[in-house]
Amino acid sequence: MSQAPSIRPLVASDIEHVAAIHQVAFPRQLESLLWISCNAAAYPRIRYFVAIEDGKIVGYIQWAEKSGFRKEVVLELEQMAVLPENRGRGIARALIRQSLPQVARELEKRGAAIKAVMVTTRTDNAAQRIYASMLGAIPRAIIPDLYSADEVIMIALSPDGSGW
Ligand SMILES: CC(C)(COP(=O)(O)OP(=O)(O)OC[C@H]1O[C@@H](n2cnc3c(N)ncnc32)[C@H](O)[C@@H]1OP(=O)(O)O)[C@@H](O)C(=O)NCCC(=O)NCCS
Repeated sequence: MSQAPSIRPLVASDIEHVAAIHQVAFPRQLESLLWISCNAAAYPRIRYFVAIEDGKIVGYIQWAEKSGFRKEVVLELEQMAVLPENRGRGIARALIRQSLPQVARELEKRGAAIKAVMVTTRTDNAAQRIYASMLGAIPRAIIPDLYSADEVIMIALSPDGSGW
C-alpha cells in the first residue's frame, strides 16, 4: 500500500532511475541518461530531489540557479516529472513543497535568499496550475513556438522580498 512520498536529494545511484522517468515523461527529449548525468554533475548550480514511494523512485524535480551564484537568487524549476502510473496523487506537489525549503536552507548557508522562482512550460501543460497554486507563479510572457509549442514563462516573486 502506498504511503506519502518521501523527498530527498538525489544521490549518484539514483541517476539511471531518474533518467528512465525523464525518458517516459519527455519523449521529445533525447539522451536521457546523458541529460540527467551532466545536470547532476552541475551541482550546486543544479539540484535534483527525488520522490520515493514504496521504496521506488517515482518522480524528480530539478532546480537551477540562473545567471551566476547571486545573493538574491533567481531559481528556476527547470524540470519535474512523475511516472505515469503514479500521477494524480500529489507527488509533484510534495516534490515542490518539500524540496524548495531545502534549497532555501542550503542557499542561506552562503548568505543567499531566493528572490524569484521562474518556470517555463508549454501553454497547454496543466502543470501551470501546480506552479500557480504552489508557488504563486504568474504568467509573464508567452514565446510562440519555442520548443515544441508555445511556451509560457511564469514568475513567482518572494512574498516579502526576503526569500522563501
Ligand atoms: C506535471 C506532473 C509532474 C504532475 O505530477 P503529479 O504527481 O501527477 O501532480 P499532482 O498529483 O501533485 O497534481 C498537482 C495538481 O496538478 C493537476 N495536474 C497535474 N498534472 C495534470 C494533468 N496532466 N492534467 C490535468 N491536471 C493535472 C492535478 O489535478 C493537481 O491539481 P489539484 O491538486 O488542484 O487537483 C506529471 O503530470 C508529469 O510528470 N507530466 C509529464 C512531465 C511534465 O509535463 N512536467 C512538467 C513540465 S517540466
